[in-house]
Amino acid sequence: MPNPSVIESGELQLILDDIADRVAGMSDRGKVAQYIPELATVDLNQFGIAVAPVDGNPVSAGNADTLFSIQSISKVFSLTVALKRVGATLWQRVGREPSGDPFNSIVQLEHERGIPRNPFINPGAIVVADVLLEGKTANEAVEDVLALCRDLAEDSSIQVDDAVADSEMRTGSRNRALAHFMEAEGNLRAPVEEVLSLYFRQCSIAMSCHQLAVAGRYLAAAGQNPVDGSTVLSAQRARRVTALMMMCGSYDASGEFAFRVGLPAKSGVGGGILCIVPGIASVTAWSPGLDPKGNSHLATIAFQELVRATGWSVFGPNG
Ligand code: DON
Repeated sequence: MPNPSVIESGELQLILDDIADRVAGMSDRGKVAQYIPELATVDLNQFGIAVAPVDGNPVSAGNADTLFSIQSISKVFSLTVALKRVGATLWQRVGREPSGDPFNSIVQLEHERGIPRNPFINPGAIVVADVLLEGKTANEAVEDVLALCRDLAEDSSIQVDDAVADSEMRTGSRNRALAHFMEAEGNLRAPVEEVLSLYFRQCSIAMSCHQLAVAGRYLAAAGQNPVDGSTVLSAQRARRVTALMMMCGSYDASGEFAFRVGLPAKSGVGGGILCIVPGIASVTAWSPGLDPKGNSHLATIAFQELVRATGWSVFGPNG
């Protein structure tokens, strides 16, 4: 087992190549998300992985430069913008507990009077979108989230995939129900369709494993962008975002992900998973086939293998 904090890039490359090779041979690849028609057309036979170390150059394997729909991974970036803008007052409108329910569940919201359990389930991210709309149009708020992604990934080409956004807009009845319920409880301020226009477009941002891994580095680096030393979030807030990723980032499979992998993670129904190895690296794995809870089947296996080979679990290496 190598020393987890000093794996040089040649060794990391071998580890990633080995994972990509093994995953390529797996026949059970999960199922692409069906409820967003545009995502149902994505080729299942793709897999990519990229590691962006806090100190050092990114290393990747497989389809690491292929763009995919980041979906719920965008909730990490929208939460970051909201915390920068309104700070701790955000927690008056959204909680910080795992939900134990699916990401689009409605049942808990009624019991808890329109205050979503956390910012990563759909209603929580819809409230965060509402916060981002204060004093802004939906177009401006989308640009704010995109600007953060472009800045962090050092790539100005990052865009919303309009076909995916339209697909979500046409089929998003459940999200509409969640938003209207929160509006009725007084936890949305902007008109529902404005909030959803932002929410669907942020989910439809297209990025690659490489771009997302680079973009996530501030969370591994105590809130600082390692490229220029600028502060994205305070160290305390960055730690808290990663705590939420650990507890809530994989929805009602967050416990299972912590059990199998042991890293703070945020998944999306596009098949991406962003994991943070505090102090060491930000990592993204992607394969479009999902397990029944909506998390990428092969990306989860890839993270298990990565942690086994590197000892990067926050709970300590395998014995
Ligand atoms: O609102 C939705 O259902 C999607 N735009 C995002 C859901 C998602 O990515 C859940 N992730 N596993």
